[in-house]
Amino acid sequence: MCGIVGYIGNRNSQEVLIEGLSKLEYRGYDSAGVAVFTDKGLEVKKAKGRLANLESQLQDSPLKGTIGIGHTRWATHGKPSDVNSHPHLDDTHKFSVVHNGIIENYATLKEELIGRGHVFVSQTDTEVISHLIAEEYKGNIVEAVQRAVRKMRGAYALGVLTEYEPDKLIAVRNASPLIIGVGEGENFIGSDIPALLNYTRDIYILNDGEMAVLTRDGVELLTLEGNFISRETFHVDWDLTTAEKAGFDHFMLKEIHEQPKAYRDTMSARISEDGKRVVLTPAEFGLSKEEIKDIHNIHIVACGTAYHAGLVGKSVIEKLARIPVETDVASEYRYRSPIITKHTLVIVVSQSGETADTLAALREAKKNGARVLAITNVVGSSVAREADFVITTWAGPEIAVASTKAYTTQLIGFYLFGLYLAETLETQTPEVIAETIAAMKALPEQVEAILTQSDDIKAIAEEIAKHEDLFFIGRGLDYAVSLEGSLKLKEISYIHSEAYASGELKHGTLALIEDNVPVIALATQEDLLEKTISNIQEVVARGGHIIGIGEDGNPDFSRHVNHLFTIPRTLSLLTPALAVVPLQLLAYYASIARGNDVDKPRNLAKSVTVE
Ligand code: G6P
Repeated sequence: MCGIVGYIGNRNSQEVLIEGLSKLEYRGYDSAGVAVFTDKGLEVKKAKGRLANLESQLQDSPLKGTIGIGHTRWATHGKPSDVNSHPHLDDTHKFSVVHNGIIENYATLKEELIGRGHVFVSQTDTEVISHLIAEEYKGNIVEAVQRAVRKMRGAYALGVLTEYEPDKLIAVRNASPLIIGVGEGENFIGSDIPALLNYTRDIYILNDGEMAVLTRDGVELLTLEGNFISRETFHVDWDLTTAEKAGFDHFMLKEIHEQPKAYRDTMSARISEDGKRVVLTPAEFGLSKEEIKDIHNIHIVACGTAYHAGLVGKSVIEKLARIPVETDVASEYRYRSPIITKHTLVIVVSQSGETADTLAALREAKKNGARVLAITNVVGSSVAREADFVITTWAGPEIAVASTKAYTTQLIGFYLFGLYLAETLETQTPEVIAETIAAMKALPEQVEAILTQSDDIKAIAEEIAKHEDLFFIGRGLDYAVSLEGSLKLKEISYIHSEAYASGELKHGTLALIEDNVPVIALATQEDLLEKTISNIQEVVARGGHIIGIGEDGNPDFSRHVNHLFTIPRTLSLLTPALAVVPLQLLAYYASIARGNDVDKPRNLAKSVTVE
């Protein structure tokens, strides 16, 4: 997903921009570029591919100047290419723009601009912005930007420079993330905090419909109508080293290994000292008992891995609190006219808190009178700010595109919330609640135990990496985890895989099973074990090669599989928080065996801020 940085100060801006962009690489991108004021005016350099391509161009012919904007692009309109990369200029080359988001009415705007004599060089929606600003410029860049954005529809975070006012950097935010970093004699813009953390810890978070005017000596915050905004800066107290690899070969492996800590952090302040109750603050879920009783149904809405966490969340809440739950993919939710009333609680789940579809679903839910609870990993994200209640998953920054610790802490979030509802509604006895909490507290150590067996998974992964197709099967919660295991494998190993509810296999997909096709069978749900074994037999009879994931000490299951990997025993409801770990490792090692870029898989982005 596109990333923005901007700098105004006295340092060599090219270095600040490249450093900031490197911290945004994790978002996924296909090209990069910078614009810097040099003694020749606004100069732009851009390059398709990795940031290193741009860096080597800048090494050969540096752009000397102390004000600039930079961008990593993740293509939406127009293929990845040098010319489609940002920054974009107008045709006088006096205005330069970087943009994250999509301008929905760009085609109409472009046609009108061409009609008035503008000449376009790229296929992007962004290029209309630089032309529009140039056209609106009557001697005041702030007013020109305000007039231009009034004509635009869609999502945009913008960084704007003009040669006419070379001591100003303009930032605008509408539905795409943008922050301002405040320094001494220097100021910054960025898509997120890590991009600026080497330079400053004092941040303004821009809201939708706001802009900032940065000079070397200060920052003015304004509404798009031009009213001044007074706001305190936010001081960042976490460290960049937490976002570095800490000795692991890849961020993904580091993040898999961080799960025990992430579980503990997410649980710790939310479990009473006696271990018998879940405690949520009013900001986490501030409804009274009467209001909770008034919840008739729950919708869980999310994308990708977070959606898979939502599938587990559905079972957890229905089982513990006996409230009907539907889980939807966010990009489908809005368009299926969901029945949302003031008795509906909508739970949006998002690692980044910036996913466009999830945010749109949140807004739709609020418009229809529902209360919204967000489960997110990013404090101050759009989702966190717009929801009524927020349960933060304390996973820490997740850099690898393939989500691991964010997913598992989302599961913890659902367990905590399900127990909180159960306790309030008295749908479970205090004994069941205390027993579940005790089992949850054991999860971090159990994950540590699984991680010590990584080599077993590595050996299986190396075999799997030789295949082009494979299947995951499971029943109940094992099916929800199978979907996540299959997604993980696809994302980073590029092996085609599909996940099926075990009982569904014989209704079509069994036709694809022949000699040696690998099938990963999850069987952690004790009450469903017999049925799962029957489905495994159906696969074995057609020559399929079964890799079983079961619980420790289940001899019944081990007899029916070719390879067995076991996880420590826990309550059936909690097995997803353990069973997914070997599947994460399987995907990781299969990706390594195939020589892929584990942390930055092709075509994918970490944070998807377009619909
Ligand atoms: C992208 C990421 C996935 C993630 C999904 C939802 O596709 O690559 O890992 O699950 O977005 O993101 P969110 O930040 O809302 O959880």
